[in-house]
Amino acid sequence: MLIRIRPWKEGDEMNLVKYANNKNIARNLRELFPNPYTLSDARTWIAFNKDLLPALNMAIIWENEVIGAVGIVLKEDIHRKNAEIGYWIGEPFWRKGFATKAVKMMIDYTFENYDVTRIFASTFDHNIASQKVLLKSGFKLEARLKKALFKNGRYADEIIMSLLKEDYLT
Ligand SMILES: CC(C)(COP(=O)(O)OP(=O)(O)OC[C@H]1O[C@@H](n2cnc3c(N)ncnc32)[C@H](O)[C@@H]1OP(=O)(O)O)[C@@H](O)C(=O)NCCC(=O)NCCS
Repeated sequence: MLIRIRPWKEGDEMNLVKYANNKNIARNLRELFPNPYTLSDARTWIAFNKDLLPALNMAIIWENEVIGAVGIVLKEDIHRKNAEIGYWIGEPFWRKGFATKAVKMMIDYTFENYDVTRIFASTFDHNIASQKVLLKSGFKLEARLKKALFKNGRYADEIIMSLLKEDYLT
């Protein structure tokens, strides 16, 4: 099934709320990701992304509908050759290969548009789905940081995975 990624635009707000307002998504993301996810949160997100060029955050589109999100955070200072990738897919669309496809598209886009040589991701140890997405996209396991994360009243180990540009190119 064909999906594409594109920058966020005004008009995406309702669709964004429809799928982002889900605690099964929020529980695997940082507290920065609101739950409940309101129309006001969606407006703030679209406004924040409007002037970022080239875009850092993309909507994932399937059959002309926003069904998820993928994006990067560019690191600074001595980490400036790094980008951290993050993503979510609306629950009705899980297990269709969409996240893996979107992450691969975002990797291509990142290496083409930004001067970074390492893309990494951080997941909760119990987020097997996300780790599979990363492995299938060429990422390798780098570290397990014991009890580094705390969310919803419990600790979790942090799994760090990365993809180096040199490995991506070969
Ligand atoms: C993680 C997430 C993005 C995966 O999206 P998805 O579109 O279902 O992923 P894919 O269909 O590309 O699946 C990739 C692999 O994970 C597996 N997978 C998907 N959901 C799974 C689950 N709940 N448990 C175990 N494996 C799972 C798939 O079977 C596939 O592996 P396979 O090819 O060996 O069968 C989605 O579950 C999600 O949005 N979760 C909440 C937010 C989140 O965790 N974001 C990542 C933060 S690091």
